[in-house]
Amino acid sequence: MAAFGKTFMPKMTLAKYENGQWQEFNLTSAEQLTLHPGAHVLHYASTCFEGLKAFRHRDGSVHIFRLENNVARMQQSARLLNLPEINAEQLRAMIIRVVEEYVTEVPEPPGSMYIRPTLIGTEAAIGKAAAPTDSAMLYVLLSPVGDYFAGGERALRLLVEEDGMRCAAHMGMIKSGGNYASAMPHILAAKAGHQADQVLFAPNGDVQETGAANFLLLDGDELITKNLDSTFLHGITRDSLLTLAADMGYRVSERELTVSELLERAAHEDCEAALSGTAAVLAPVGELLHNGTLHKVGSGNIGTKVKQLRQALNAIQWGQAADKYGWLT
Ligand code: COI
Repeated sequence: MAAFGKTFMPKMTLAKYENGQWQEFNLTSAEQLTLHPGAHVLHYASTCFEGLKAFRHRDGSVHIFRLENNVARMQQSARLLNLPEINAEQLRAMIIRVVEEYVTEVPEPPGSMYIRPTLIGTEAAIGKAAAPTDSAMLYVLLSPVGDYFAGGERALRLLVEEDGMRCAAHMGMIKSGGNYASAMPHILAAKAGHQADQVLFAPNGDVQETGAANFLLLDGDELITKNLDSTFLHGITRDSLLTLAADMGYRVSERELTVSELLERAAHEDCEAALSGTAAVLAPVGELLHNGTLHKVGSGNIGTKVKQLRQALNAIQWGQAADKYGWLT
């Protein structure tokens, strides 16, 4: 399969917001967009997006995972960025319509159809640096995908970064391009200088998340991950995994995790760590690089706890286990 997110379905659903209201959406070419060069999004980053997936089951049917939660999170991002209020019913219909259009293109497991709803401020208004856009566009792109981390199933190396921040603290829970742009210099430096796969942001020792996924630690029977606050993305995959972990008998601790506690626990033989996200699913972490010292997490290899948890999630997504939480549409 081609690199993650580089193949697109030729059509998308698109709706425009003009004169204070959303127009009807339509199915249109996903080849190009026409925007005024002075469009608000191009100057003042008035944009947010979502990432969710549709999965093919053995009987051929196609199911979208946690549609409602992604729609609600996108509404929240739009609100926090002073973008036009998203109509949940309309966005839901736009997602379902475009997935229906390409239902035969949804890959078999382990692949899936990645769904990327995107909202942009389109008003040509370069004077509006401190005022919201009056017009906007919402569109839903589809991209058939496989593994996010090139190299497939391998344990990742993270650089633990205590000085830099992924993004401004009050922006962390917004799914917006600016946050990814702000994390990128740290990630590029970590990849080039340390052959790290990602950066684990831990400003002032507070373990938050990586550039593109949440961080989970599994030590003994405890699953530890940061409690929800405004500084990091409230992952829907994270939430799903915490639910499954609790069901599997883990003590789920959503609480502060310091770098010193993390490194201390990483030295335990049966400690495991992983990154969670729509794209990453649950990707094992084998090494933490901190202040020039490489720390293995447990054995340093892919552990059984992460494998089991990922399997439990995939089993629901792929229709191999009952959807007992009602996560599939
Ligand atoms: C996702 O996991 O859906 C994301 O948006 C992360 C992105 C880097 C692919």
